Amino acid sequence: MSGNSILVLNGPNLSRLGKREPEIYGHQTLDDINRGVAESFPDIRFVFFQSEEEGQLLEKLFECEDRGGFIGVILNAGAYTHYSIALRDAISAVGLPVVEVHLSNIFAREEFRRSSVISEVCMGVISGFGANSYHLGVRSLLGIAPRKKRITVAVNGD
Ligand code: DQA
Repeated sequence: MSGNSILVLNGPNLSRLGKREPEIYGHQTLDDINRGVAESFPDIRFVFFQSEEEGQLLEKLFECEDRGGFIGVILNAGAYTHYSIALRDAISAVGLPVVEVHLSNIFAREEFRRSSVISEVCMGVISGFGANSYHLGVRSLLGIAPRKKRITVAVNGD
């Protein structure tokens, strides 16, 4: 794992954020969320991609793996989370860590949303923190990426 790029990949209906059920997904548009993420992590080069189509999400994952230089992927797969075996297989196939994120808490909603077919092949799941789920996802990825420099932590003044 090397480089300083992160792919932020969003699936179907997330292009409608801002208008779409704001009581569940908030008032920010996807552009607002992406801008906020980019501003919070100025040292990271972000590639933002959204599609309504499963195949395009898979292709973007493969493209980023092939291009190289990616720390990992923040993925909000939207409804594909709950049934796309193709997406699950693609996540397994790529050698990039993927953090699954959701704006809403999928475990506190309808029964069908409580299961994710992709969680098992992701590094972890962040769900229910609105736009902050993406920020936490980036922080998690940076935490699991190998550090170039050794960091010394002083505990109790040692
Ligand atoms: C979502 C939750 C999914 O169940 C839903 O299909 C979405 C958005 C979220 O961010 O809360 O499209 O992934």
